[in-house]
Amino acid sequence: MSFPEVLLPAARAAAKKAYAPYSEFTVGAALMDENGVIYTGCNIENVSYGLTVCAERVALFNALSQGARRFIALALSAAEPVTPCGACRQVLAEFCDASLPIALTDHQGSGVRLTHLGALFPEPFASETL
Ligand code: THU
Repeated sequence: MSFPEVLLPAARAAAKKAYAPYSEFTVGAALMDENGVIYTGCNIENVSYGLTVCAERVALFNALSQGARRFIALALSAAEPVTPCGACRQVLAEFCDASLPIALTDHQGSGVRLTHLGALFPEPFASETL
């Protein structure tokens, strides 16, 4: 099975847990670590809108909090296919290679767009001195 076939259903299931009463835009993310373990997340909004956390960072922090550190694939499902926001791209770049494959789809699974982290975010902030 290809990684989108495995991860997209997990992302779609995760989106069902989204807490998105303000935007009503539910997003699910599924991240596979180097051992093939799948971690999921959904967006979690707040009445103070800026405190909202995207599905991608929830999935990543879920994984990190369980000890995972390196990741080999990401899938996202939303009402329409969306790419990760800039903040999530920077955070993903901390733990994923630029070659990280990313599959994007909508909740109906009408079509899958394949891309990779380096295409979406070619020059993450990095420092040798920090
Ligand atoms: N959102 C995500 O969870 N991931 C994305 O890639 C784009 C945006 C969420 C944040 C907010 O809860 C809602 O979608 C609308 O922006």
